[in-house]
Amino acid sequence: MRVELAGQVALVTGSARGIGRAIADTLAANGATIVYSDREPGDIAAHAAAGGHHFVPMDVSSQASIEDGVAAALKAAGRIDILVNNAGIGVRADQRKPIDEFPVDGWNELIAIDLTGVFLVSRAVIPQMKTRNAGRIINICSVLGMVPMRLQSSYVAAKAGAVNLTRSMALELAQHGILVNGIAPGSTATEGWAKWIHNAKEAQDAHARLMSHIPMGRPATTQEIANGALFLAAPESSYVTGHILAIDGGWTAGFARDF
Ligand SMILES: NC(=O)c1ccc[n+]([C@@H]2O[C@H](COP(=O)([O-])OP(=O)(O)OC[C@H]3O[C@@H](n4cnc5c(N)ncnc54)[C@H](O)[C@@H]3O)[C@@H](O)[C@H]2O)c1
Repeated sequence: MRVELAGQVALVTGSARGIGRAIADTLAANGATIVYSDREPGDIAAHAAAGGHHFVPMDVSSQASIEDGVAAALKAAGRIDILVNNAGIGVRADQRKPIDEFPVDGWNELIAIDLTGVFLVSRAVIPQMKTRNAGRIINICSVLGMVPMRLQSSYVAAKAGAVNLTRSMALELAQHGILVNGIAPGSTATEGWAKWIHNAKEAQDAHARLMSHIPMGRPATTQEIANGALFLAAPESSYVTGHILAIDGGWTAGFARDF
């Protein structure tokens, strides 16, 4: 898919690797200027500079870091037309516990990044979109925000919150020309996932169980998620707002197995 994003600036949070990086690179390949941002920059500053783009450090769990990061993005690129709220963490394997044993620290950390981060970054970016009466916001949610999984209370609650925040932002911002949508990825093969899966027999068994739950029987590539973000950023999706686009190989369509 090829769309025209020349002249547009996109800020993508958590874009040093994984889904965020694929989204940022795909928007760039379609003409947008990108402000990459992350709390762990890795090689992304050099990658951004090599393509004539920008990098700003930003930790979405800190309001001060967000406000500094958005100010730096606006200074570097002049405007933000497209915001992709992608930065997120999952529940570590050792923290997957029943609700009455679920670690409070882990809960607070995850909600701060995966839910409050979406609110705070949007809050900082929206005013300059309002002045142009235009903008796109794409929140990376999860199938687990629509259909929960056991032992991951913080994640399923944060992602369900992101789903409904997306919808309520769409209601509020339509009158300002700002379209707000979400993507609910299913299992997606990121670098971290690939490392995990090659590490242990236990992980391979868990992976096989998970794949048996997905009608298409495989994870998404990060490019397949990025293609959805490209559609939601494109001029062609000008009447789409408040929508959660599941890119999940059929996960949320129903049961993949017979009983
Ligand atoms: N991979 C999947 O299977 C999957 C499925 C559904 C939803 N998602 C969602 O997609 C998004 C990206 O996930 P991914 O799989 O690419 O993860 P990832 O761990 O590969 O990459 C996440 C990026 O976000 C950054 N990040 C984490 N916390 C941050 C913070 N506080 N501030 C700024 N940056 C931060 C990390 O440094 C990293 O670069 C997340 O919101 C995740 O919940 C992923």
